Amino acid sequence: SKGDYRHYMLKEIFEQPTVIEAALEGRLSAQSVLVESFGPDALALFQRTRHVHIIACGTSYHAGLVARYWLERYAGVPVQVEVASEYRYRHPVVPEGTLFVTLSQSGETADTLAALRFAKTLDYIGSLAICNVPGSSLVRESDITLMTRAGPEIGVASTKAFTTQLVALMLLTLSVSKAKNQVEYPDIIAALRTLPEVCQRVLALDSQIEILSQAFAEKNHALFLGRGAHYPIALEGALKLKEISYIHAEAYPAGELKHGPLALVDSEMPVISVAPNDDLLEKLKSNLQEVRARGGQLFVFADESVGIDTQEDVRVLALPHVHEALAPLLYTLPLQLLSYHVAVLKGTDVDQPRNLAKSVTVE
Ligand code: F6R
Repeated sequence: SKGDYRHYMLKEIFEQPTVIEAALEGRLSAQSVLVESFGPDALALFQRTRHVHIIACGTSYHAGLVARYWLERYAGVPVQVEVASEYRYRHPVVPEGTLFVTLSQSGETADTLAALRFAKTLDYIGSLAICNVPGSSLVRESDITLMTRAGPEIGVASTKAFTTQLVALMLLTLSVSKAKNQVEYPDIIAALRTLPEVCQRVLALDSQIEILSQAFAEKNHALFLGRGAHYPIALEGALKLKEISYIHAEAYPAGELKHGPLALVDSEMPVISVAPNDDLLEKLKSNLQEVRARGGQLFVFADESVGIDTQEDVRVLALPHVHEALAPLLYTLPLQLLSYHVAVLKGTDVDQPRNLAKSVTVE
């Protein structure tokens, strides 16, 4: 049931601290990840892993894009990420030692399942499914699995399934790093443990995000910008806004702005930027300057330590500081809340957006 919440989506957004904790439960030791969380065969498989191919659809695909940054940076493994409906019709070249990974909330998405079946005819060392539904087709047909433990997700727009996929993908990153390189990242382990509480503090900003949402209800378009692992978070923010509020939204890596989309920016174009405090912040700041110079309205979600002033044309929402590895997870939350409140203002059917189904079992 929805309990006291007006919509399932809002309830599921607010469940994230709890389900993130569940997704971590029993999977970490004091200083390190427990590789056997992926099953008894996982260690041998990860030791042999030299490449990773990640296949998924929609929101799950965005989780895969974040994982590419993580696996390359923290485990030193090259990664390809692709939507299932493209992958399955290509002739993929599979380098020696490649692990095939699918991501899915339902485990029944037709294209993702077809991609797994296709991959079995190719030269992969094995398949891993990261999935929310035990006993689903994807789980039954994969060599090894990790459950995301988000619980049933009723809202069509995926929220807690996405953030728990990210937790699972960080566990994968740490496991591959430990198996292959004997590197354990105790700092990330410690940050993972505090994540539920930090997420709680972000959710406490809900009423401020609701106020920001008023600026979007009358708009027809929006642009989301991010850099690095936050580019996929910008993509996910744009997808959520499209799905439930029917506002046309696009996401770009901030560095691409001047290669085209800047032409769209005027005073009618809200620009939402995820700007945590990492190496790319200075570059992002200059991208933001380009937007302001064209009269675009800017909304910046940034680390509380970052000095971006709130001014008439720039509205800043400060988020609690978190280990930079986990920032993509944290910055997802305000974007979910933003699209939720915009949809409520517009009066759309938040939990059952038009034309969409929760599980896409047709091709
Ligand atoms: C977006 C959304 C969809 C799903 C996609 C894949 O909010 O829910 O984009 O992410 O249909 O579904 P799963 O993860 O069940 O394979």
